[in-house]
Amino acid sequence: ELKITKICCIGAGYVGGPTCSVMAYKCPNIRMTVVDKSAERIEAWNSDKLPIYEPGLFEIVKERRNKNLFFSTDIPTAIREAELIFISVNTPTKNFGNGRGRAADLKYVEDAARMIAETAQSSKIVVEKSTVPVRAAESIMHILRANQKADVRYDILSNPEFLAEGTAVADLINPDRVLIGGEQTDDGLRAIETLSWVYERWIPKERILSTNTWSSELSKLAANAFLAQRISSINSLSAVCEATGADVSEVAKAVGLDSRIGSKFLQASVGFGGSCFQKDILNLVYICEGLNLPEVAAYWQQVIDMNEYQKTRFSQKIIECLFNTVSDKRIAIFGFAFKKNTGDTRETPAITVCKILLEEGAKLEIYDPKVEAEQIFSDLTSASVTENPEFVRQAVKVQSDPYTAVERAHAIVVCTEWDEFQSLDYNKIYGSMMKPAYIFDGRKILDHDALQKIGFHVQTIGKKLNRAGLLRSWGQIPQFN
Ligand code: NAI
Repeated sequence: ELKITKICCIGAGYVGGPTCSVMAYKCPNIRMTVVDKSAERIEAWNSDKLPIYEPGLFEIVKERRNKNLFFSTDIPTAIREAELIFISVNTPTKNFGNGRGRAADLKYVEDAARMIAETAQSSKIVVEKSTVPVRAAESIMHILRANQKADVRYDILSNPEFLAEGTAVADLINPDRVLIGGEQTDDGLRAIETLSWVYERWIPKERILSTNTWSSELSKLAANAFLAQRISSINSLSAVCEATGADVSEVAKAVGLDSRIGSKFLQASVGFGGSCFQKDILNLVYICEGLNLPEVAAYWQQVIDMNEYQKTRFSQKIIECLFNTVSDKRIAIFGFAFKKNTGDTRETPAITVCKILLEEGAKLEIYDPKVEAEQIFSDLTSASVTENPEFVRQAVKVQSDPYTAVERAHAIVVCTEWDEFQSLDYNKIYGSMMKPAYIFDGRKILDHDALQKIGFHVQTIGKKLNRAGLLRSWGQIPQFN
C-alpha cells in the first residue's frame, strides 16, 4: 500500500538537499520536490556543480534528478501537490532584538508555515526537520490552524535530522536512528506512522523511534549539546596536557576504552565549528534561562566558552612561538572548512585563527581543497571579523595549491583535518619556507616525529613536543634528569 506519493521539502540547503536526494534514491515510487526561494541555489542543484559538497552526493543526484527528484523555485505548486512537507529551512541565531546572539531565529520556519497555510488546498502532514527550540511545533500549529481552509487539516511532526556534514550521504542511508515526534492522539499517531512508513522503505523499523513532539525537539538540542560537550571536555584536558607533559591522545585513548565512555568524539583540536553546535547550545541555554533554570544554562554555556578559549589559546600559541610577532610574516593556513570532506565554513575555527593572526599583522596564504576563494573572503571581511575589509583583502591570498601557499612562509597552521595534508611532500615544503620553519597542527593529523626530523619546529594540541619545552614547563624542578 502506497501511503505517500509526493513529498515537498522547503529549503534546499545542507539538510534538505542530501536528505531528499537519498529519499528519492531509496524510494523510487515517491516523487520528491525540493524547493528554495534562492533561485541561485536551485540552479546549482540542477547543474553539474552542486551548491554543497558531500562525498557520494553528486552520483545519487545525477541518478534520480528529473526522474523522481526535482529542484524548483515554484514553491506553491510543490506545496499544493505534496501529501507530506518537510520544513528544512535555516534557523540561525538571532542577531537582533530579544535573545540576540542566543535565541534561534524562527522567521524562516514561520515564513514556510505561512506559505503552506496560504497555498494548501488539501490536508498535509507538515514535518519540522529544521532544528528548533522546544515547543516550536506549537507555533507552526498556531499559524497553520489560524489560516486553515475548510476541509484542509494539518498534522505536525518533529523529525530532527542527525546527519553530520562530510558523511551526510552515508549517515542518511544508514542512520543510527530516525526520530519522529508527534501528538499522542489518534491523528498524531497516524501521522507518525505515515512518516515512519517512508523511512521504512530503507531503514529497519527498530531504528525508527517515536516520541512526543517536545521530547523529539529537545533530543536534537540535547544530542548536539552532548557531542560538543565531549569535544570541549577533551579540549579542556588538552591544556592540562600541555602544561604537564601528558599527551592528550594517550589520555583520550585510555579514557575512551572504558565502554561506559566510548572512544568517539574524543579528538582534541583547535575547537569545534559548523553551523549547528554553537547555535543549538546557545538556543538550549536561552531556553533554560527562559524556564528559570540558570544553573542548567550556565552548565551548557561553559561548553561554548571552552571552545572559544581553545580557539584563542591555539592562536596565541602561534604568535608566542613566532617570537611574539607575526607582523608582516607570511603564514600558510591549511584548511578553512570547519571539518574535512565539506566545503562548509560556518563557524569554522579557521575564522577565529585567521582573525587573530590578521589583527597581529600577519599575511595569510590560505589553501583549502573545497572552499571557494569568494567564500573565504566573505567570511574574513564580515563585520564580526574586521572593521576594515580592504585591509583584510590585502593581507589574505587564497591559493589553489598547497605548495604555492607555503612559499617563503614562516609557518603552516593546520586548521582542517583534510586527509591530503598527511601525504604532502614536507621535504619540499620545508625547502621553500623561511627558517626556522614552524608547523602548528591544530588537528593532530601530521607525523610530528617525521616533521621534526626534517627540521620543522612542530607545535600541536595537548602535547609538548620537545624536551626543552617540557623542561621549561616544569619550571623550578630542573633536577629530574
Ligand atoms: P542552509 O542554510 O544550508 O539551508 C536552508 C535553505 O532554506 C536555504 O537555501 C534558504 O534559502 C532556504 N529558505 C529559507 N527560508 C525559506 C523559505 N521561506 N522558503 C524557501 N526556502 C527557504 O541550512 P542547513 O544547514 O540545511 O540547515 C537547515 C536546518 O537543519 C537548520 O535548522 C539546522 O539547524 C538543521 N540541521 C543542520 C545540519 C547540518 O549539518 N547543516 C544537521 C542537522 C540539522
